[in-house]
Amino acid sequence: MIIGTPLSQRTTRVMLLGAGELGKEVIIAFQRLGIEVVAVDRYENAPGHHVAHRGHVIDMTDADALLALIERERPTYVVPEIEAIATGTLAEVERRGLAEVIPTARATQLTMNREGIRRLAAEELELKTSPYAFADSFAELEEAVQRIGYPCVVKPVMSSSGKGQSVASDPDMLKSAWDYAMAGGRVKGGRVIVEGFVDFDYEITQLTVRALDEGETRTYFCEPIGHKQERGDYVESWQPHPMSQAALAAGRDIAEKVTTALGGRGIFGVELFVAGDDVYFSEVSPRPHDTGLVTLATQRLSEFELHARAILGLPVDVALRSPGASAVIYGGVDAKTVRFEGVPQALAMPGVDVRLFGKPESYEFRRMGVAVASADTVDTARKLARDAAACVKTIAWG
Ligand SMILES: Nc1ncnc2c1ncn2[C@@H]1O[C@H](COP(=O)(O)OP(=O)(O)OP(=O)(O)O)[C@@H](O)[C@H]1O
Ligand SMILES: [Mg+2]
Repeated sequence: MIIGTPLSQRTTRVMLLGAGELGKEVIIAFQRLGIEVVAVDRYENAPGHHVAHRGHVIDMTDADALLALIERERPTYVVPEIEAIATGTLAEVERRGLAEVIPTARATQLTMNREGIRRLAAEELELKTSPYAFADSFAELEEAVQRIGYPCVVKPVMSSSGKGQSVASDPDMLKSAWDYAMAGGRVKGGRVIVEGFVDFDYEITQLTVRALDEGETRTYFCEPIGHKQERGDYVESWQPHPMSQAALAAGRDIAEKVTTALGGRGIFGVELFVAGDDVYFSEVSPRPHDTGLVTLATQRLSEFELHARAILGLPVDVALRSPGASAVIYGGVDAKTVRFEGVPQALAMPGVDVRLFGKPESYEFRRMGVAVASADTVDTARKLARDAAACVKTIAWG
């Protein structure tokens, strides 16, 4: 691996596809290592644009526009931060050796569609998952649910952040679940996956890093991250989440298998449901995970720094430094420009830090920032992070 000189002929250049709050932290991690960073998003002044050397605004699902930009910028590494990308272009970029796609073009293709990753995990790797079926029509869905039973979860195969996803507890709810999925998918119409509802005790993110260790790719596991989901998005996360030895080992076995199958280098967020000692694979992000924002407070190297190091072929260290927690700061208001109140009070709390993403527009449930806290125990950290997040208020301004 070579680290060159930014903004010269001899540069090591990273192109982030998606420049939200997670991309912003990845960019900062690269900047600290003297890497040239180009941030791409679909709107102007995205968080990552603020901290990159250059920014572009394109529709990343437009295969031609994406290819043209990659050909123009000639990055060393292309690092997807979101799912909605023309992944066929990434495959072409990889095939032509234009840039290294992180972790691999195939990983981005498989994980952007629930069908791809579910079939890989359940049918090829034989990992334990919820029972599932795919349906292209309401009639097919009805038939599938006869096998899977109630309650079940209906999701568009292409969606994220819980969009188009709902639980049907009985046959009367199935039609509205279907309609909701049809309206909420990334592509209109299209397939759904129906999953049996897993009555889990808790769910975790197993952050897993594939990085070089003396020239060989090795798999590293962070401490498990517990989290709480509302409206399809995470509202709170904490680390470490206590697990039985058996569940921890089962989760890591799943994480190792699925990340090895996806290949490449970088961080992965493996989402797992845990019931007793039984661990179910749910899905995986081949990139930093939003619940992993907590690692800004808990690990010697945050998930973003781990990603940057792994991509560059540098050594990683997944050690936990302190228990900690994160709590999301929502917009609360609909406004083009906002100001924040309560930041001094939040930052005065012991062990608390606040990240404001600098997003150009606020709406009620838009994630505008996060409060993170470290403390002696997860319980104390959770309370601190929650209190700090509640303290920060977004006010419409101008
Ligand atoms: N089969 C299931 N059984 C029980 N709960 C489920 C099931 N599928 C999803 N959930 C719940 O819904 C949440 C979101 O599901 P999932 O991760 O599949 O959706 P997503 O749209 O990809 O969300 P995100 O992008 O935020 O990860 C899960 O974290 C879990 O809390
Ligand atoms: Mg998920």
